[in-house]
Amino acid sequence: MKILSKNGNELMLLAMKEDSASKGDYMLIEDRNKSLVVQIYDEEYLSSQAMIEDIVKEEVVNASSIENLHDPLNIGVLSKLIRDARVFRAKLRATINGEGKLSSEVAWLPSRVDSRIRRLSMAEIDSFLGRSGVFPIPLGRAGDDEDFEIYAEDLDGKLSIITGKKESGKSHLSKVLVKTLVQHGAFVVVFDLNNEYSGLGWHRDRTPSAIQNKVHILEPGNSLRFKLDYCGKAAVSGMLKNALDIPAASLREFFRIWDWLENKQGLGIDAIGNAINTWNINELVRDALVSRYHVIQSSRLFTDEPGGFRFENVITRNAGTGAAIVINMADVSPTIRRMVVELVLSKIVDLLERQAIPPIFLFAEEAHLYIRETYWEDIITRMRHFGIYTTFITNQPDAISDGIYRQVDNIFLFNFTNDSDLDKISKVSLVDNDTIRSIVRTLPQRQCLAIGKAVCDLPMVIKVAAADVLTLGETKKFFSKKTS
Ligand SMILES: Nc1ncnc2c1ncn2[C@@H]1O[C@H](COP(=O)(O)OP(=O)(O)OP(=O)(O)O)[C@@H](O)[C@H]1O
Ligand SMILES: [Mg+2]
Repeated sequence: MKILSKNGNELMLLAMKEDSASKGDYMLIEDRNKSLVVQIYDEEYLSSQAMIEDIVKEEVVNASSIENLHDPLNIGVLSKLIRDARVFRAKLRATINGEGKLSSEVAWLPSRVDSRIRRLSMAEIDSFLGRSGVFPIPLGRAGDDEDFEIYAEDLDGKLSIITGKKESGKSHLSKVLVKTLVQHGAFVVVFDLNNEYSGLGWHRDRTPSAIQNKVHILEPGNSLRFKLDYCGKAAVSGMLKNALDIPAASLREFFRIWDWLENKQGLGIDAIGNAINTWNINELVRDALVSRYHVIQSSRLFTDEPGGFRFENVITRNAGTGAAIVINMADVSPTIRRMVVELVLSKIVDLLERQAIPPIFLFAEEAHLYIRETYWEDIITRMRHFGIYTTFITNQPDAISDGIYRQVDNIFLFNFTNDSDLDKISKVSLVDNDTIRSIVRTLPQRQCLAIGKAVCDLPMVIKVAAADVLTLGETKKFFSKKTS
């Protein structure tokens, strides 16, 4: 390969037939004691008007004559080589100086004649970047089919987004992350919309997986039921306001009832129901309370029986070993989903504030379906301080507001072909527009472009490995494929 030209932060590299590289590959351009790290993001033919005319002429001649052309000097071969020449477009990413140190300063030009261009291996990139960690998360392969891993530290305290079109492999990657985080002893809460994360406990051959007894599946209304006094006023008030739209006057009455019952030591969900019916209040307020109370009752989220769910119990039982708490929301209505999310998040924040539990990793699938937009920013800004580190998984990048993108640390970007999705993601993400548009548009299924802290700000194309855990959540089909 040779350097052809430079335009802004972009290099054009000339490649002959035997030179190979794929989009996303890193190349090192060595010139004396300095080197330039560039990333290939697009490939095209070397084209000039004269060459196109030549090709057309030759085709016309071939089509209209059956005689062999007389070519004693074998010029035809050369001309074919030129026609097969390609141009790789590459973005300048960094400079490596004489001492082997990486810097983002790229304000110099390597020689067009003398510089040598070669592919950089993942191991070399990692050593230049000093990318290392204690808790690896193997993701699959990258570069020249080399093993690739990120580190759990890169997700710790960070906000991540996994996005891509339908069926591109987002949930699969998120399951790999959840599983490895738990293996490293972390506590993960998953809002699961398809009942697919329960497969984490099992291998494909239905034998228990390494984290089988660390996966806790919670079904709202069954295994997920709270005592009112455990949730506390703040969580219930958040639920009434944000999930059930209760008017302010009714909310005040609700808490008057709550306080009265608490003073009598008789706080309970049935007791609240009785009090609402007999409490001396305006009928409109009563109506508002009664309708909310019915929703709460039918959700079966609260219980007066002893043994309601307590997060700290799961966490103390698994102290040191980690656990995944999967909240399965596949079979519940949108209102109940919102109630669950509201209660769970408020309670976790409360526990974190009191330092009753260690920081939590939160994986939220299609969060726009159950969290209000205004509330999201709150989750990531405020909750990050408390110790909730979120990963959003979505196939609608425009459902995430710009405010969130501005704070994102890692993006795992699967294929998008739709222009408006690409527009959105290239506008807000941490990498230049050209790289995103060109690489992401042609990414095959199960490959993603990792951007951000986890890859030290050098975007990398990763082939996500298959997982040995059971994969659930595949779309149910009416016409299943013939197996024979
Ligand atoms: N790296 C991989 N290796 C093997 N199988 C994979 C891989 N990634 C995804 N799959 C399989 O491809 C299918 C689709 O993947 P997945 O459910 O992760 O897609 P998705 O992007 O979450 O889709 P949706 O938008 O519908 O939620 C699943 O059956 C999954 O098991
Ligand atoms: Mg999915």
